[in-house]
Amino acid sequence: MLKSVDTAVSFIRSRTSIQPAVGVILGSGLGNVVEAIEGEISIPYSEIPGARASTVAGHQGRMVVGRAGSLPVVVLQGRVHFYEGHEMHDVMFLARVIGRLGIKRLIVTNAAGGINTSFKPGDLMLISDHINMMGMNPLRGPNIDELGVRFPDMSEAYPESLRSEAKKVAESLGVMVQEGVYLALSGPTYETPAEIRAFRTLGADAVGMSTVPEVIAMSHMNIPVLGISCITNMAAGILKQKLSHQEVMDTTARVEKEFTTLVLGLLARV
Ligand code: HPA
Repeated sequence: MLKSVDTAVSFIRSRTSIQPAVGVILGSGLGNVVEAIEGEISIPYSEIPGARASTVAGHQGRMVVGRAGSLPVVVLQGRVHFYEGHEMHDVMFLARVIGRLGIKRLIVTNAAGGINTSFKPGDLMLISDHINMMGMNPLRGPNIDELGVRFPDMSEAYPESLRSEAKKVAESLGVMVQEGVYLALSGPTYETPAEIRAFRTLGADAVGMSTVPEVIAMSHMNIPVLGISCITNMAAGILKQKLSHQEVMDTTARVEKEFTTLVLGLLARV
């Protein structure tokens, strides 16, 4: 496993001499940030040794290494998901690769359903913490000691310091942000209304099918994460309407500009 990660790292280093300081993972329909990156290289996942290609509409599946202003960055446009049938080590793979490339922090983004009824579709939520209900811990199996300890601490996976910085940036840009707990499920079904009521009782504000494996990989490697969920829809049972991937894509398209402004603003401040 470590060998395949390092093979991918060597491959990327052979293509660029840029040393990225920050990594960005862009979720469903949120890939436009990449257009503002002065990319030195853009590599489809299919060309990165060991990486899997995403099969989902709205997920482009390429790595861009370049600069946001003067900041060297690596952007993963699109991700692979557990619900696609990939093993957890494949879901974490590119996060680990950019971790080994040497990023000092990660900005991770996703589309999520709003459980908190004070949210509305189109809101951006800073992730304060998560609840892993994917049915599996992605680090299950032999520990890779070179990446981190056997029993990683998760009490500050999304450090408060990064969130308060993000709130300042958002305010200065006039972008309104919510804050809350992200609950991850394996998918691919959306939830039932009863599940959503249960998750609200558990303290979740938003629900989705991604992000947690990558964040756990980062916690293992001691890399701090800033998480941003785009609330694309109200979760099941809150409104009298069915959920669809189309609604998710429509909302991300609607807020893409604001979302991109926020992410670029964050990168400019690092
Ligand atoms: N549930 C799970 N995942 C999601 C949702 C949702 O309502 N919206 C976007 N991703």
